[in-house]
Amino acid sequence: MVTPSQEKLTLAKIYKSVSPLTRFITLGLTVALAYSGGLDTSVCIKWLQEKYRADVVTVTLDLGQKDNLREIGKRAYLLGARNHYAVDARHEFVTGYVYPAIKANGLYEGKYPLSTALGRPLIAEKLVEVARKEGADAVAHGCTGKGNDQVRIDVTVRSLDPSLKVIAPVREWNMTRDEEMTYAQNQGIPIKPSKSIYSVDQNLWGRSIESGPLEHPDQEPLPDAFEWVTLPEEAPDTPGYLDLEFLEGVPTKVNGQELNPVELIQFVNQLGGSHGVGIIDHMEDRLVGIKSREVYECPAALTIIEAHKDLEKLVLTRNELEFKSSVEREWAWLVYSGLWMEPLRAALDSFIETTQKRVTGKVRLKLYKGNVRVVGRSSKNALYKLELSTYNKGSTFDQRNAVGFIELWGLQARVAAKVAAKVAGMSEGRTAGYQRETPEEIQ
Ligand code: ARG
Repeated sequence: MVTPSQEKLTLAKIYKSVSPLTRFITLGLTVALAYSGGLDTSVCIKWLQEKYRADVVTVTLDLGQKDNLREIGKRAYLLGARNHYAVDARHEFVTGYVYPAIKANGLYEGKYPLSTALGRPLIAEKLVEVARKEGADAVAHGCTGKGNDQVRIDVTVRSLDPSLKVIAPVREWNMTRDEEMTYAQNQGIPIKPSKSIYSVDQNLWGRSIESGPLEHPDQEPLPDAFEWVTLPEEAPDTPGYLDLEFLEGVPTKVNGQELNPVELIQFVNQLGGSHGVGIIDHMEDRLVGIKSREVYECPAALTIIEAHKDLEKLVLTRNELEFKSSVEREWAWLVYSGLWMEPLRAALDSFIETTQKRVTGKVRLKLYKGNVRVVGRSSKNALYKLELSTYNKGSTFDQRNAVGFIELWGLQARVAAKVAAKVAGMSEGRTAGYQRETPEEIQ
């Protein structure tokens, strides 16, 4: 964690003691900016300084995206940030955001594990924290006006602290890519030759890949889009096995070994990815109405959710599962659409939490050339009972009970069929359309 110097903190304290209006007139705004180190947010620093006479404080979260955080910090100071904060939020991200997503089997439109969506409210929360520490008047982020991320950050910030202004320079400045490059050059912002034609966002729960050739949904993604997942056709010829142990809905052990929350996700990402597991190619409905082709690499998310769903089927009742599936759909929608702060999300979490008390057990998965399949499961809370389901001797299920059960189960259907036949004017018992044929007639 890069912590600001004592001297700077004292300055921030003095700064905070002055009223916002006085501050603005005399000094301009102080803005806490979510800084990734990339071109957009680097341009944001300069633009905020220029347009708002802002003192910019930058905040970079480590959500497991594997960026060089030291370099990002240096860059922020180079561009004139008053202070820079690097926050290792990996543990908090997993336990506070990924765990609820696992318990909710969170998949937007049945496919997207919400990796980017889950990171945004945490970024917003940390921005607000830093803004308060620094006596900032506003927070800023580099989201465009076309995506979901702007909604997620704006809504969360404004729910947490309505006194903070939210500035989204990219949404405001309306520059084309070329104009932005020229602006960067004029401002002396060092431009790294872009390594990728794609727009990428990553954290421990997944990697989102957009734009470039992916904007043509009829075309298969090129191999260069992928970094986490080995192409299934190049994955090993021998399958991999993974034993995942869950404790009350969350994975705690892999192959019998306890790992910390962050390591566990990293391990499954690595193993799944090496077997070609985790690629998602999805036509997605964005909140702002745009349909977009999204490609993801989410090996751990897909593997863990698959295992978790399977374990739930072993320990929860049919009614619980059925109801939970509609709760899950709603949960995924709220998270996707930026409403992490919506009270309904917390209410749904309470229901989900109740069900998870029994979701403890072990799941065995087989990973092979892009495919992940559960091949075994066990739990002390299993509702599966061999003595009930076995076709061999030792069954305790009395089959004679089935007769009475069927009698009542089908009662209304049988009565309704009779009534329908009467209404149609058919004599009871007549089977329309059948004709009896003798062997001679057929000859
Ligand atoms: N479509 C995904 C979502 O809305 C991914 C967004 C990726 N964001 C980004 N800034 N590259 O969650």
